[in-house]
Amino acid sequence: MKITKICCIGAGYVGGPTMAVIAQKCPHIQVTVVDLNEQRIKDWNDPNTDNIPIYEPGLSEIVAEARGRNLFFSTEVEKAIDEAQVIFISVNTPTKTYGKGKGMAADLKYIELCARQIAKVAKQNKIVVEKSTLPVRTAEAIKSILDNTGNGVQFQILSNPEFLAEGTAVTDLLNPDRILIGGDTTPEGEIAIKALVDVYANWVSEDKILTTNVWSSELSKLTANAFLAQRISSINAMSELCEKTGADVSEVAKAIGMDSRIGPKFLKASVGFGGSCFQKDILNLVYIAKSYGLNEVADYWEQVIIMNDHQKRRFSNKIVQTLYNTVADKKITFLGWAFKKDTNDTRESAAIYVADDLINEQAKISVYDPKVSRNKMLSDLDYLETRTAEQNSKSLAIFDDPYEACRGSHAIAILTEWDEFTTYEWKKIYDSMHKPAFLFDGRNILNAKELESIGFIYKGIGS
Ligand code: NAD
Ligand code: UGA
Repeated sequence: MKITKICCIGAGYVGGPTMAVIAQKCPHIQVTVVDLNEQRIKDWNDPNTDNIPIYEPGLSEIVAEARGRNLFFSTEVEKAIDEAQVIFISVNTPTKTYGKGKGMAADLKYIELCARQIAKVAKQNKIVVEKSTLPVRTAEAIKSILDNTGNGVQFQILSNPEFLAEGTAVTDLLNPDRILIGGDTTPEGEIAIKALVDVYANWVSEDKILTTNVWSSELSKLTANAFLAQRISSINAMSELCEKTGADVSEVAKAIGMDSRIGPKFLKASVGFGGSCFQKDILNLVYIAKSYGLNEVADYWEQVIIMNDHQKRRFSNKIVQTLYNTVADKKITFLGWAFKKDTNDTRESAAIYVADDLINEQAKISVYDPKVSRNKMLSDLDYLETRTAEQNSKSLAIFDDPYEACRGSHAIAILTEWDEFTTYEWKKIYDSMHKPAFLFDGRNILNAKELESIGFIYKGIGS
């Protein structure tokens, strides 16, 4: 089976970049990305590809190359489903905010909607690919909907989770550590698996394309995120112990990372991990474990989240304590709002929670982030529902210029590890601040000695 037409439902952080790379690497395949969100599609079709809705290094160039050739963005969901042989489902699967499993389980309503729409529209056999991150055994539910509400055509469900990280999405997609494809072990299932393997084989060497059964693939995605997040919570736990004992967490991380069994990656202590997935996926894992009565397994993984919440709160508490136990009416400047560098995504960013804590203490927060819009920052705070939108907008001043953001502030907090922060004229910033001038480096990216020699009282994480 040769694939010539692909449709992807969901033009978000995964659907957009993933399909752009497939289109770039497979010019013989027509790739149509559809979304219900008209504005998002309009933005993907902006004649100036610098204005596409997702900021990722290298992405606008790929979109410029493939868009209009074999890459299309559209709101015509049914037409795209009808025409495609393969349909990727790449819609959001957020934590449920209502009903059974509230605050833990993944909300699968968008997935179910996609399945129902595919079933309604499909008049020929289709391969349906789970690209979204899903609870293990979701393929069963999708298959049941497709088979019971469809037009009698055959569906093969594959699980093909995405492992890209934001900020490095393009390089991750171009050079993945592995591509994982789970499918049925029936002859039809194997044909479907082979068809998807052939798509990736256009640029990924076959030894990196791993095929498994559907359940292993679904569960591997949750497991990968749980292990990655666990490393951060582990090093963050050590960061607190370092602060009490005179050890330095960066030195500890380096020392343990040189053990080839541990490895050096993902050992940066921080103000806490953010992003749309780590927390949601671990909560989902905890919920799944509990639903099978595996309470010890559930408690084990839940601790990763408990530690992360503690780390965020510990950071805001430290600011308050260091500033003589009161930040009321003090100006505190945040450098960074995105959950990590090189993205405009702010979902679950530690900055939101630290700001919320400090505003509760009546601090005045100023923010500068090179990629995050004013409206996004305010809506992030509004979403917490701690106070009214009007109160939030009075407590948060947003600047386009970092030097202006820092002027007159009592303390600076680094919330995102944007490279540009390391290039600032820190002496100039120091001179414009209230004294004593405090600097809380939530990402350990600045040079403590240099800043202390300027006069800053510098507090990193874990030292
Ligand atoms: P997103 O919110 O950025 O994008 C999802 C898009 O789907 C939205 O634009 C929404 O309008 C659209 N959508 C929802 N229901 C729809 C429907 N019925 N028809 C058409 N469009 C619909 O989400 P995302 O960050 O791209 O994540 C998508 C999935 O991929 C999630 O399951 C996530 O866990 C997983 N994932 C995300 C990342 C990441 O870095 N963001 C990485 C790996 C996996
Ligand atoms: C993460 C995974 O890395 C991807 O493999 C996965 O596909 C994705 O989740 C997903 O499923 O959504 P992402 O959240 O985009 O990717 O970015 P990461 O680089 O993993 O960073 C997550 C958070 O951890 C960020 O806030 C980052 O600053 C923080 N982090 C990361 C640390 O605090 N320390 C580290 O050592 C590494």
